[in-house]
Amino acid sequence: MTHRVLVAAELKNLLDTSQLADLDITWLAAGEPTPKGNWEAIVPLLSRWVGGTELKNLPNLRIVANVAVGYNNIDLVAAEMRKVLVTNTPGVLTEATADLTWALILATARRLVEGVDLIRSGQWTGWHPEQLLGVELRGRTLGLFGAGRIGQAVGRRALPFGLELRYAARTPKPDFERETGARRVDTSGLLSGSDIVSLHVPSTPETKGIINGETLAGMKRGAILINTSRGDLIREEALAIALERGHLGAAGLDVYTDEPAIHPRLLAAPRTVLLPHIGSATEETRRKMAAIAVSNVQAVLSGKPPLTPVYA
Ligand code: DGY
Repeated sequence: MTHRVLVAAELKNLLDTSQLADLDITWLAAGEPTPKGNWEAIVPLLSRWVGGTELKNLPNLRIVANVAVGYNNIDLVAAEMRKVLVTNTPGVLTEATADLTWALILATARRLVEGVDLIRSGQWTGWHPEQLLGVELRGRTLGLFGAGRIGQAVGRRALPFGLELRYAARTPKPDFERETGARRVDTSGLLSGSDIVSLHVPSTPETKGIINGETLAGMKRGAILINTSRGDLIREEALAIALERGHLGAAGLDVYTDEPAIHPRLLAAPRTVLLPHIGSATEETRRKMAAIAVSNVQAVLSGKPPLTPVYA
């Protein structure tokens, strides 16, 4: 028996036909609204909102298999009420995202983009002892706001760079502490005591806007802020102001509140490294993300439990 499934068209090249056996696929183009009909599963990208209306328009839906570890694009309450399962893609993107977080840490600390711009502008006049002086990492403190899979993977990479580690998390992580020497602190201790703060919590009502004018003021002067999690953790205008005033030393961002739009003041602010949400963008990881999403669909539509459910 074949099952009717809606799949984001952008995944076509990342999936093998063998993975799609027994599925009658309708490819859903990027800008296309989610249609009404008798589809049993949907495999959306994080850019597609799946809320009450969409779920109501898909009365036969059994699963939303999100192609992301984050699932703030899905109304979980509405899904649960309609007994629609929701799955995500944890695990497979941990290392790729941790690597990109480090690309941002190094790029901001050592002013990579300014260096590239200088070369490209043709204005480089040669080596100068005070040119583009950055931040020495050894001996400084990296503060992880959130220490789940990705936060911990970022933390483990800090050891060879000689950084001290702190983390703020709802629950202690004794194995992580043993492995890395990381010390658990509260949020304000993390912000005031870290030279680099890296965000690794999901977007929830508690974490939205957690980095705002007030919390930014509580960060060390000259500190670096990194975000590869979700854009709405940060109030973008407040961050732009902190950068303009030189209170923050730099910001390395991969995610934004209203992607692909970026607050114009943040776009114009000094000392930023802004990337287009590419944390998980390696060939291997993107294939694995697509594969897990479709495996979740295959499992649920053949009466088995999902592999990576968001809620039990
Ligand atoms: C996720 O999986 O949530 C990422 O943001 C996409 O790479």
